[in-house]
Amino acid sequence: MSKPTPTTHDSLDRTLLTTAEPIRDPLRRPCHSVWYRPGSRAVSHLDRLPKHFTRRCFSPRTLSLCQEEPGVLLVDLTGDPSDMAAVPAAHDAGLPVVALVDDDAPHLASGSRCHAYLSPSVAPLTLATVLHEACEWARVDMEARQMSKQLRDLNAIGIRLSAERDSDTLLALILTKAREITRSDAGSLYVVEPQPGASPHLRFKLAQNDTIRVALSEATLPISADSVAGYVALSGEVQRIDDAYDRSPEAPCRMDASFDVRTGYRTVTMLVVPMKTPAGKIIGVLELLNCKQVAGRPFASLEAIKYEVLPFPERYQELAASLASQAAVALENARLYEEIERSYRELSGTQAELAQSHKMEAIGRLAGGVAHDFNNLLTIIMGRAMIGLTQVSGGHPAHQALESIKAAADRAAALTRQLLAFSRKQTIQPRVVDLHGVLVGLGPMLERLVGEDVEFKIVQGGPLWSVLADPAQLEQVIFNLTVNARDAMPDGGRLTLEASNILRGDPAVNLPSTASGEAYVMLEVADTGAGMDPETQARIFEPFFTTKELNRGTGLGLSTVHGIVSQHGGLVLVDSIVGQGTTFRILLPRAEAAPEIVVPVPAAPTAPRGTEAVLVVEDDEEVRTLVHEILMASGYAVLESADPAGAKELCVTSTVPVSLLVTDVVMPGMSGPQLAESIKGVCPGVKVLYLSGYTADALRRHGVEGPGSTLLTKPFLPEQLARSVREVLDSRPERP
Ligand SMILES: Nc1ncnc2c1ncn2[C@@H]1O[C@H](COP(=O)(O)OP(=O)(O)OP(=O)(O)O)[C@@H](O)[C@H]1O
Ligand SMILES: [Mg+2]
Repeated sequence: MSKPTPTTHDSLDRTLLTTAEPIRDPLRRPCHSVWYRPGSRAVSHLDRLPKHFTRRCFSPRTLSLCQEEPGVLLVDLTGDPSDMAAVPAAHDAGLPVVALVDDDAPHLASGSRCHAYLSPSVAPLTLATVLHEACEWARVDMEARQMSKQLRDLNAIGIRLSAERDSDTLLALILTKAREITRSDAGSLYVVEPQPGASPHLRFKLAQNDTIRVALSEATLPISADSVAGYVALSGEVQRIDDAYDRSPEAPCRMDASFDVRTGYRTVTMLVVPMKTPAGKIIGVLELLNCKQVAGRPFASLEAIKYEVLPFPERYQELAASLASQAAVALENARLYEEIERSYRELSGTQAELAQSHKMEAIGRLAGGVAHDFNNLLTIIMGRAMIGLTQVSGGHPAHQALESIKAAADRAAALTRQLLAFSRKQTIQPRVVDLHGVLVGLGPMLERLVGEDVEFKIVQGGPLWSVLADPAQLEQVIFNLTVNARDAMPDGGRLTLEASNILRGDPAVNLPSTASGEAYVMLEVADTGAGMDPETQARIFEPFFTTKELNRGTGLGLSTVHGIVSQHGGLVLVDSIVGQGTTFRILLPRAEAAPEIVVPVPAAPTAPRGTEAVLVVEDDEEVRTLVHEILMASGYAVLESADPAGAKELCVTSTVPVSLLVTDVVMPGMSGPQLAESIKGVCPGVKVLYLSGYTADALRRHGVEGPGSTLLTKPFLPEQLARSVREVLDSRPERP
């Protein structure tokens, strides 16, 4: 603010006639400081001033005080150069100067830039009025300087707020800065919080004063006129209140004293502003308070409050509102930033899931292909070994060799079965089953398996839905997980198997984005073992990944679990902390039907025989020859062909009617089921037994599925082939 033009005492005399009131009403303008230089002749004038002028000694030591409270320096320039020297120092301190000068010494006036020049014989009333006016000017000037500093501060705060990304730090910063800039004793901050199915409320986030920082984040307020903050959030209007507990009945809102009770403060004056985004949305409320506290008492005495607590100047209203708007923008930005970060994390997670599932898919295809070719070889190895064993006596040296070939082939067959399970290519026979029933059935065996050091428990979390699953495969899953848990607890621990129902959104399970179902039955296998680090966890489902010593683990346990569960449309989730334990969660889609009761069919004691004509179609020559030999040895008349065209030819030319077609499923030119269909005209009533190297998928694609088709999976033993052939021949004819 620019300084006013110097006024002469003549013009002041005239002004005085109309503005005498301030001196008569000293209580409204409680105290004015009049500074003087020690030893100045001006002191004699001070004695005649009204009481509300406070005398203060002007010296280099008191300069800082001049800058804090408005006042005026009175100098007597009539001949004493010492007072003259004080004038520039007063200017530097922002203190206006009133000078007493002789009428005949105008040169003094021109160089000294004083607020007013008066005659040394000025009347006390005139002097008081001029000093009063200079003080007022000083007050306005000081406020202007403060305001400009506050605006600079506000700007700096805005920049600081916009750089902060963490919401909690930001909230604390907003409150601290708002208190600094409005010089308030205390403050609180609320944010508007949406509520599911109800209108939003205000959540109390932070309370601050100079000695305590209270987080009362469990407290909420309705957005209504029942509290000042609630009303500000409702109306968007700033509330500046001079006495919080003494308000007129017309006040638009009530004072909610509950926070005062909790913090031990007695709120007196309030400045409450909405935090509004540029779009006009209110996202919170900033409450600035001047209050009092008496140690050991929740509320200060009313007298103490009355005299010590300052009201908020009107101009702070704008200041606080500006800061609140900047705060709102910063908070919105922080929220958006957090949202973007969360979305990014989710996206990265989904990408990782996708990459993992692609990797598993590729390994699965490879494993499935290997297993398929391997099954053909194993059929031959096992079949030939079995036939050889029947041909050489027990004492023959080759007998032992054939036995170990057969045993090795059995182990190889078990491995291929696991590979097929992993690649989800094995043929499964799903039924509606009760998972808890399966668990209980396996219980005693599992308990023996884990040993006495492990506390073993099976829990059922309430009535369980059914699942559509192959029970033998489920047993395999439970078995593999139990063995792993046991191995992770070499010094004992606790193993809990629990089955429960899970609906999407259940907080107990964080379903990955790939889960499409709404309802699952969950099997939880939780151990208190060694746990796994993130690197191990990332690889556990890969076939042949193991951390176990040589010959202790093949690394196929979990890949089998993964394959089986995926083939059943389910999910495997894992949670593990090194040193604390691991929990595997198997989620299988809920089946609507009730579980089936199955009566096991006893197996026939010896391989059955027959004499019917059987046509064998198989492109692998060695498998074909083996099947031929096994069937011949069982008494059948066998015809064989390497391809479907030759097979059709044979049907036409054969002198005996073909009763059974034993055929591979996937062949060049024509599939097994197509061949079966095409020979029905030539061989009416012909029955079919399919042989398959794999795969559930391939079989489905080629039409081999459901109760009408019988399937023997490779590798098979001669006895299994003979039994299947007999069963199909003896089955009831298909209805035309
Ligand atoms: N419950 C568990 N606690 C700690 N680590 C586990 C657990 N289950 C699996 N793992 C880790 O995962 C690896 C792979 O398990 P997986 O069952 O596939 O193979 P394996 O147990 O090593 O061998 P296999 O089961 O074929 O005999 C294990 O070697 C082990 O490091
Ligand atoms: Mg294992």
